[in-house]
Amino acid sequence: MVQAMRKVSRWFAVVFAALALSSMTRAREPIIGAGEGCEAVFEGLPDEIPAVSRIAPSDETGAPMIISGVVTDARGEPVPGIIVYAYQTNAKGIYPPLGGFARGSAALRHGRLRSWARTDAQGRYQFLTIRPGAYPGTDIPQHVHFHVLEPGRCTYYIDDLLFDDDPHLTPLQRRQLLTGRGGNGLAVPTRNSAGVWHVTRDIVLGARVDGYPPRR
Ligand SMILES: [Fe+2]
Repeated sequence: MVQAMRKVSRWFAVVFAALALSSMTRAREPIIGAGEGCEAVFEGLPDEIPAVSRIAPSDETGAPMIISGVVTDARGEPVPGIIVYAYQTNAKGIYPPLGGFARGSAALRHGRLRSWARTDAQGRYQFLTIRPGAYPGTDIPQHVHFHVLEPGRCTYYIDDLLFDDDPHLTPLQRRQLLTGRGGNGLAVPTRNSAGVWHVTRDIVLGARVDGYPPRR
């Protein structure tokens, strides 16, 4: 009986040590500037993040699209090592269900079309995906949601990527995007002969983000 209890207590000690270690491995950066949904950035965050990352699988229904961008600081200098997180609807305008997360996880609201890319030495990142559909039955424009994670500093959302050729886009939205959070989110889409859309979403770190800590 005593031996069995010792075994159990040893097992608990091992489990608690493992849990403590896993929670110590990565402290979460603070969310700044009213960051609704920012918790999802950390849910499923991979250890290794490439500069070119896939949001939609290659067999996803829809028109293929490549999102490219350069992340710069307020002085216009490219910043390597920044994690860009994006999520979007499928071609029908739906956030397709995501599995593998506990009930109440923020990531569930983002759906399975989500991913992370880490900027390379020149501050560049790229997402391979499909062009999102607009929410069915609404006049809300097509969009891709973006968050920025500055390792060791902070995380925050920035303006959505929107599309210049979208008939739902209002003149007010166009004007607001020009001075947007994290830089201009309005992209002018081009489509190549293979039917692949190309859009650009450059990011200015901390632009119009409340409480943004100054970079040195
Ligand atoms: Fe959305």
